[in-house]
Amino acid sequence: MSLELTAPTPDAPEVAEDGVWLADIETGETYAPFDEIRYTGEDGNLLEVRYADPPTFEDFQGQGRGVWRYRAALPFEEGVSLPEGDTPLHEAPRLREEIGVETLRVKHEGMNPTGSFKDRGMTVGVRVAKELGVDRLACASTGNTSAALAAYGARGGMETLVLLPSGKVAAGKIAQAALHDARILEVDGNFDACLDIVQDLAKLGEVYLLNSLNPFRLEGQKTIGLEILEEFRDDYGRFPDRIVLPVGNAGNTSALYKAFRELVQSGALDPSEVPMLTGVQAEGAAPMVEAIENGWEDTKRWDHVETRATAIRIGNPVNAPKALPGIRQTGGTAVAVSDDAITEAQRDLAREGIGVEPASAASVAGLKKLRDKGVVDADEDVVCLTTGHLLKDPDAAFEAGGKPEPVANDTQAVLDLIGAN
Ligand code: F0G
Repeated sequence: MSLELTAPTPDAPEVAEDGVWLADIETGETYAPFDEIRYTGEDGNLLEVRYADPPTFEDFQGQGRGVWRYRAALPFEEGVSLPEGDTPLHEAPRLREEIGVETLRVKHEGMNPTGSFKDRGMTVGVRVAKELGVDRLACASTGNTSAALAAYGARGGMETLVLLPSGKVAAGKIAQAALHDARILEVDGNFDACLDIVQDLAKLGEVYLLNSLNPFRLEGQKTIGLEILEEFRDDYGRFPDRIVLPVGNAGNTSALYKAFRELVQSGALDPSEVPMLTGVQAEGAAPMVEAIENGWEDTKRWDHVETRATAIRIGNPVNAPKALPGIRQTGGTAVAVSDDAITEAQRDLAREGIGVEPASAASVAGLKKLRDKGVVDADEDVVCLTTGHLLKDPDAAFEAGGKPEPVANDTQAVLDLIGAN
């Protein structure tokens, strides 16, 4: 495949600090990275972090493991760390066989310190918050961001405030935010409403916003892509053809695309080697799929969203203007899957010993569907991203799994029950 990846401009503008600056993705307007708190450009456009010296694979050699191995691709040398990253790239031989692809690896981001990929963004985001001298951190969340913010805020000695959609956040995630001592506000509305409010609070200067609208979060999340490329190349001598991932606010999709663009820009990666970014959403919350199918420049907000995969129960993906070009430019696609297909994929992964929450299983459900439709070929090397740990959502795990059986306090009763002689 040959494609033209739009690369960010390498020339540092005057506002750059140590070769790092912020740029409006629509107008190209540049801003100093740490002089003032800024989440968007003048017209409310998304910002991205840019570098005078984008990284090569050699830059990462001998730099340890985890997110900060990739410091050459990040705005700081080190962050507020627990530490994070260096997650397993599991093999899943039975699933590979069943789905029918050349290679299937599962990058299990549920193995991060708080059990999701959000930790990669927070180690950078909380470091930036320290640089800016803010003291109260906040986010809207379907759960995982709030758990990560609470833990990293605690680690950094900062106050944290999280806004959650009432009744729609899995138990494990609220428990984490609570124990790490976030102030938790349950809003009578969905995630998108929570994000509207947190953005208002940030504009009023009451909080420092650490949702993925904050461009620094995505810098940390780029390291998922960097780890996948390095490890896949070490194992097979080539890069994967496709990366399949669940999509909510589309931050990860944007972050992976940015990681690849920067490697292309430095000459470390040929555009033909960039994996096809393939996004998966739940049928009840699929504005990105709708935009891809209709060729739209941006998503249209879904006011009513519903899915068992509560982590991706999102109707207004704020990073769509970054993620849609990522999917298109890499030759990828987006697909919606049913809640039942998500649960089935959760069971499939569990049978391989990989325990994930429902949203994570969407990647595998999406791969199956695309393979069945012939969109994914049998000769493809595929990496599925599983974004959160099984224990995040114990209720969903109980629903999907076998049920405990009561038995008398007696060996014979146990033998009888298991059908032993
Ligand atoms: N998977 C899980 C487990 C998530 O928690 C999220 C997002 C996603 C996938 C989607 O990632 O937004 O980068 O497209 N969770 C956010 C939260 C919204 O608040 O925890 P995305």
